[in-house]
Amino acid sequence: HTVEWDAEETGKSGYDHFMLKEIHEQPRALRQCLRGRVDELGGTVELDELDEPPRPTAVQFVACGTSYHAALYGAQLFQDAGIPAQAFLASEYVTSPPPAGEALVVGVTQSGETADTLSALREAKGRGARTLALTNVVGSTVSRECDHVIYIRAGPEIGVAASKTFASQLAALNLFALATANGGDRDALGALRDLPSEVQAVIDDSTAAAVAEEYLDAEGYFFIGRGLNYPVALEGALKLKEITYRHAEGFAAGELKHGPLALVTENTPVIAIATGDDELARKTVGNVKEVEARNAPVIAVTDGQSDIERYADHVLPIPETHPRTAAVLANVQLQLFAYHTAARLGRSIDKPRNLAKSVTVE
Ligand code: G6P
Repeated sequence: HTVEWDAEETGKSGYDHFMLKEIHEQPRALRQCLRGRVDELGGTVELDELDEPPRPTAVQFVACGTSYHAALYGAQLFQDAGIPAQAFLASEYVTSPPPAGEALVVGVTQSGETADTLSALREAKGRGARTLALTNVVGSTVSRECDHVIYIRAGPEIGVAASKTFASQLAALNLFALATANGGDRDALGALRDLPSEVQAVIDDSTAAAVAEEYLDAEGYFFIGRGLNYPVALEGALKLKEITYRHAEGFAAGELKHGPLALVTENTPVIAIATGDDELARKTVGNVKEVEARNAPVIAVTDGQSDIERYADHVLPIPETHPRTAAVLANVQLQLFAYHTAARLGRSIDKPRNLAKSVTVE
């Protein structure tokens, strides 16, 4: 008598795909990222692997793919703290290196092995800049080559298209920004504490699967957002492209009228991320009215604070929270939307055609 045992199936712990398992692992990954690093009472952040926080006066992020979207988000956090920061695609940074001046150059890379990101960091180092790696892999090339390292502690990710590691990158970038600014932002610290259970609430919501089902034949998908939700729009589109092979684009909501609107039809769902009820959300609602007037189906990712629901065909709900963590929650809905679309289309979700988990050539 023999027992059939398939290592791969066992690794998936009952999930159909590693990606779905890893989406579900996000609350745990986030807890691991935050554990022991946040002192909410004292209002401070401790990153043990940094002997001393580098306290940069300016930051240049370099990264590729999903990690670049995390870098765009990270740059906004530093800007909010009054520290000039920019995100660069690593390949472009190497092509046309900007003066680094006093900037700390931060490589955001899950694997720590991406050739373009390593080249950008070497370029910066060669010009005398200090470098920091934000990575998932202990002992990776990036962790050995940079002056400082921060680990995102997401655990291994098997799915080629990044999912849980993106959430953990965003959490770690919050810690890094708060550590640099000397903590103090109690609202942000509290929001980080609540993030794992809020992510769980989004995972438990089943709306994305039902909405995905309705748009399997769409001609293309557009994702729009502003501020911290802009990188989320880019990431939502990238995830959909990678695992469904459907055409998808992410735009800053303000750019819609400068071109993309020409592509909007009744066969192109527009996924709009609007959280909170501030000026940014109101402007995004304004953009949604424009696409609605052109008969495009609107899928709103919202915490219910703005009146975007009035103009939306579907709502992917998230709990009400701080704008920084709202972006993480909105992204979980987009992961689920992409996943369920790909699953219904029967795609090779964990290993999309032509893509690799770690790209070690420039
Ligand atoms: C590959 C992967 C992407 C990833 C990118 C950057 O293209 O398929 O999911 O975002 O590399 O990888 P890194 O390890 O540097 O974050």
